[in-house]
Order: sequence, then C-alpha cells, then structure tokens
Amino acid sequence: MKRRYAEIAGWGMYVPPRVVPNDTFVTMGLDTSDEWISSRTGIERRRVVEADEATSDMATKAAVQAMAVAGLHSGDIDLIVVATCTPDHVMPATASIVQDRLGMLNAGAMDLNAACSGFVYALATSAAQVESGRARNVLVIGADELSIYLNWQDRSTCVLFGDGAGAVVLRQANEPGIMGSTMGSDGSGAGLLTIKGASRVRASSNGTPSGSANGHEKAANGAAAADENYLTMNGPQIFRWATQIMPRAAEQVMASSGLKTEDISLFIPHQANERIMKATAKRLGLPTEKVFSNVREYGNTSAASIPIALCEALSTGRVDVGDYVVLSSFGAGLSWAALALRWSVPIPSHVAPWQPIQRQVASRMAAVRSVLRRGERSVRTRIDETLGKGEG
Ligand code: ACO
Repeated sequence: MKRRYAEIAGWGMYVPPRVVPNDTFVTMGLDTSDEWISSRTGIERRRVVEADEATSDMATKAAVQAMAVAGLHSGDIDLIVVATCTPDHVMPATASIVQDRLGMLNAGAMDLNAACSGFVYALATSAAQVESGRARNVLVIGADELSIYLNWQDRSTCVLFGDGAGAVVLRQANEPGIMGSTMGSDGSGAGLLTIKGASRVRASSNGTPSGSANGHEKAANGAAAADENYLTMNGPQIFRWATQIMPRAAEQVMASSGLKTEDISLFIPHQANERIMKATAKRLGLPTEKVFSNVREYGNTSAASIPIALCEALSTGRVDVGDYVVLSSFGAGLSWAALALRWSVPIPSHVAPWQPIQRQVASRMAAVRSVLRRGERSVRTRIDETLGKGEG
C-alpha cells in the first residue's frame, strides 16, 4: 500500500489588538524597567486580551485564516486539536467551541495540554492521524491567554507572557511534509512552573459525599487557595533546563529525520526568552540568521508561540518550498517536543479580495447552523418527553 504523509496546507494567526509595552509595568508601579526586561528576555511588548475575549475567540480567528489558505471547506476537517493550557472552561473542550463556531460538523474535537510545548505535541499527534489514514485533514491550533493567570504585581513572571493564537491545517500528501517528531516529559519538575486551581485544589476545598471532608473547613481553605491561582515559576531553573532540552530535542529529531545541522533552513524555537534561543542556536551550531525570533513583539504566548512564529516566518519570506524547518519547544510539565518538516506548499503572496467576504459568510452560516441545531435538539427533547421516550 502506498505510504501516506502529512503536510501543512494552511496557516493563520491572531493576536489581540491591545499592545502592552514594557514601560507599562513601570507606570503600574513595578520595580522594573524597559532596559531590564528587554536585555534579560528580548521582550519589548506583548499583546493582551480584552475582558470579553476567550481562548476560543482567538483560536477561531487563527483557524479561519488557516482554512482560507488551505482552501478547504469546514466539512473537510476530520479532527480539531486545540493545544492550550488556558481553555475557556474545564469542560467542554475549547476545540468543541471552535468546532461549533466554524460549523465543522464532521470533525472530532479535543484539547491537548502540554503547556508551551502543546502545539508541537498537537502537530506530531495530528500528523500521525493523517499518516495512518484515520484522518484526511486536521485543524491544529495553539492558543493561550496566560495574561488571565498572571500576578500583575510579580515582576519576575508578569513581564514574560502575552496572548495569541496560531493555527495550521494538516492534509494528506504523497511526500513528507512532516518528517519526524519527538515528545518528552519529566514530571519531577512539575512544581517549577504551575497554575493551580483544578482537582488538586478543589478536592481539598470541597466536601465530598464519601470522604470525611469537612465542607466548611475546606471551603475556608478554598478562599486561600484562590489566591494561589496565579502562574508561579522558578525562572532560573527553567532557564537552565530549557537551554539543555531545546537543543537536545532538536538534535534528536534531526537525527531521526536524517537531517544535519547544515540542512536546516530555519529553526523555530519556542519564543520564551531571546537568551534561551541564542544559547540553543549556539549549542546546535546554527547561525543566528537561521533562527526565527519574534519574542520582541509578543513575549511568550505559550502554545501559540511556535505557530505564530511560523506564520510570520512564512509571511516575511523566511521559508521556501523545499526548505527544511525544525520546531523545538519546552514548557511546564516539564514537557518538550521537536518536529522536523520539509516545506512543501507554495506560499501565496497576497490574500484574494473575495476571501474576507467568504470568511464572513462562512462564519455567519456556521452561527445559523449552530442556532438551528440547538433549536432542533430542544424540539426533539420536547417530542420525546411528550411521547414518554428517552427513559430506561
Ligand atoms: N525587573 C527587574 N528585576 C527583575 C525582574 C524584572 N522584571 N524580574 C526579576 N528581577 C530580579 C530578580 O528579583 C533578581 O533580583 P535579586 O538578585 O535581587 O534577587 C534579579 O532580577 C535576577 O533574577 P534572575 O531570576 O536570576 O534573572 P534571570 O537573568 O534568570 O532572568 C528570567 C529571569 C527572565 C525569568 C529567566 O530566568 C527566564 O527567562 N527563565 C525562563 C522562563 C521561561 O521561559 N518560562 C516559560 C516556560 S514555557 C511555559 O510552559 C509557560
């Protein structure tokens, strides 16, 4: 049987319009400076969501662009994977909300949480679905808004992160596209970078029917726990580890894909800190012009960082057909992932004038379909109740 491969056929990104420059932290009264932030991290500004903007909103906008570039219809997508550690809700999955907004009626939908490594994890997992023939087209999104979990009084974390989303569409191909990938985790470092607030916190703050939990006592603890629901990080330890794991993961994936350092046209590392990226490039023996960086503009956008960087690399002519590109990421978990690909599709130089109209029509139609499905569900429920069905 002919072997199947996966290739990236569409891409898109979204960042919120609100720009927060480094000076804002000084104005807020934090003991920091533009000079400290930019020299220690490379970050000059970041984008931050408005109060009514959820992760699914950003994810949907990036996905709409990726679908337009791929030239696919919503019915063509078999699976949606949203890599995020800041989902809209604990449940349902953010991917299901995106699925509804885009009217992707044939698609399965799931979230994947590997923090900042999430997008590369999702891309590797989705490529395997395409290569095995279980899915023809997969929409892979990395979207995060860590700004909502930041303690804006903690200068060692709040200056580092920003919000955004990036998406790609994977489709079946006759030649590799995605060449190889590696994923890893070391949970012994889980405490180095955390946002608490799910079962570890709630189980100890809620009374449970079977346990000896004292609901009142635990509810009081819950109030204290709520204060801990910020992102906390041991920056120096993460820094040291990141400078080792990113090059190691990249080397692994280059070796398994049969690539040498000199074959690589562009290296796209997780955009967390310019110094981490430089140290990684040095270890790999890559010249700086082969390392993509836009951390200056957006800070660390977590799972969105690599797809946003990929989109900007494509739109600024840094990638050509036939180029070998390596992605490498690290994040909370601890987790890491790297992926090698051969760029295989032409890069459109402009957006066709009808595309924005087409997008608007498609999104209106998806909204109408969603309302109709809700209406149909409630009518069916009423009919079943009237006929006494649906029990037993
Ligand atoms: N402004 C001014 N001073 C600061 C600031 C700030 N914004 N932040 C920290 N400092 C101070 C510290 O308090 C410390 O002061 P002290 O010496 O009086 O105690 C001093 O600067 C040096 O602090 P370090 O932490 O040693 O500074 P370092 O050079 O390591 O930079 C940083 C800190 C930028 C956080 C770095 O460690 C880093 O980037 N770590 C990796 C973080 C990362 O990438 N995290 C994301 C992981 S991805 C994910 O999954 C979300």
